[in-house]
Amino acid sequence: MTDPLGVVNGMRVGRTLLTQEAIESRVSQLAAEVSARYAGKEVTLVSILKGSFVFLADLTRRLTIPTRVDFLGISSYQGTESSEDIRWTTRLTSPVIGRHVLVVEDILDTGRTLSRIIDHLRDQEPASLRLCALLDKPNRRVAPVEADFVGFTIPDVFVVGYGLDYDGWFRQLPYVGVLERV
Ligand code: XMP
Ligand code: MG
Repeated sequence: MTDPLGVVNGMRVGRTLLTQEAIESRVSQLAAEVSARYAGKEVTLVSILKGSFVFLADLTRRLTIPTRVDFLGISSYQGTESSEDIRWTTRLTSPVIGRHVLVVEDILDTGRTLSRIIDHLRDQEPASLRLCALLDKPNRRVAPVEADFVGFTIPDVFVVGYGLDYDGWFRQLPYVGVLERV
């Protein structure tokens, strides 16, 4: 694929769901909410790879509290279908015991991935554990997980861009678009 907006397996980026401007403005608001909630505290941001890297980069630069960043990599998604099969691909580099942990995720969908991640982190006894998701698809929820901070609630459509991918492609788009069949 040579064109960033090309066709992959018969799929392409269709209509824009969230513009670059809308995302920028909402991420600034989220950063203010997060900074206010953790005022006077230090926070460990745990970014879930790979989808959250763009969101993390924008969010973290707008936070006014002291933060550290760590990454957890989990592989649970093949194409556009959620799967039960989960595998750690990256582990935390520092212990989070006694730390205020904020999980940064691109999208909360069925909640299966995040419920595993939350269980895994809770076992390590952080001082607090909260979740910040750029996007939330509440209609798809299977596991009982809710985010403490949500950027946008979206309908049940498969979206790409701003870090979100289809088979690894389209993460580079500065906006969020709906994936469609050609
Ligand atoms: P669950 O279902 O466990 O899945 O909440 C969360 C993970 O699934 C991926 N996901 C998507 N990725 N567009 C994407 O690019 C989507 O519309 C979408 N829905 C779910 C994503 O990796 C997320 O971390
Ligand atoms: Mg993800």
